[in-house]
Amino acid sequence: MPKIAVYFLAEFLTTRSLPGSSCVVIDVLRATTTIIEALANGAAEVVPCLRVEDALQLAVGQDRRQLVLGGERGGVQIAGFDLGNSPTAYSPQVIGGKRVVFTTTNGTKAMLHCQQAQQVLLAGFTNLAAVAQALHSADTVQIVCAGTDGEVTHEDVLVAGALVERLTQAAPVGVELADSARIARDAWLPYTKLSDAALAEALAQSAGGRNLCELGMQADIVFAAQRDCRAVVPVFADGRVTLLSRS
Ligand code: MLT
Repeated sequence: MPKIAVYFLAEFLTTRSLPGSSCVVIDVLRATTTIIEALANGAAEVVPCLRVEDALQLAVGQDRRQLVLGGERGGVQIAGFDLGNSPTAYSPQVIGGKRVVFTTTNGTKAMLHCQQAQQVLLAGFTNLAAVAQALHSADTVQIVCAGTDGEVTHEDVLVAGALVERLTQAAPVGVELADSARIARDAWLPYTKLSDAALAEALAQSAGGRNLCELGMQADIVFAAQRDCRAVVPVFADGRVTLLSRS
């Protein structure tokens, strides 16, 4: 019977429990939503970096027509970078065929924390169905929320809960839910029937949502609330995020 647990922050997941598990990292506002969009729009790969200096170092001596530096600090585009962290900026015209070197405050850190897992997938509302489908034969699923600066955030917990709900519905023989997975699912259940527009309004009340509203980036929240509009699953392995091939 598959086991599912949710970690409300990456720090709650000890690296000892990573080998053999399938991790799903969530930073719906906005890092994972943006990476989903970049890869759906034809980026060759996304390289998550912990520090701004790491990203800049990777760009040294590279053909900048083939490499895009993207990410944020404090929600805004980093000086010297080509793109910030708005998913809509990662259009086919801008990133098609290119390597995206990417660093964000919390999302890329959470991904790097999980890298010893058997597989590391990235999720948001936009690719929820595709991620649930990709996990159909996983034995141990650890859903990891990025949060914000060490604080648990409602928006990531809602995606985690929505994923728990999908996995529970899809499992033929039932699943074993850790209490953390029940908590996330129960947090999500009141939102299941909302339209995407109403979900975006709810997300705007979360910690990540409030930050984006203060920065005038409400459009990114609306974008991130579109459930199942991307049928792709980013997978992080060997230092790079690419699309999981369909089996
Ligand atoms: C992060 O990684 O902290 C975020 O994705 C922040 C943001 O750009 O909204």
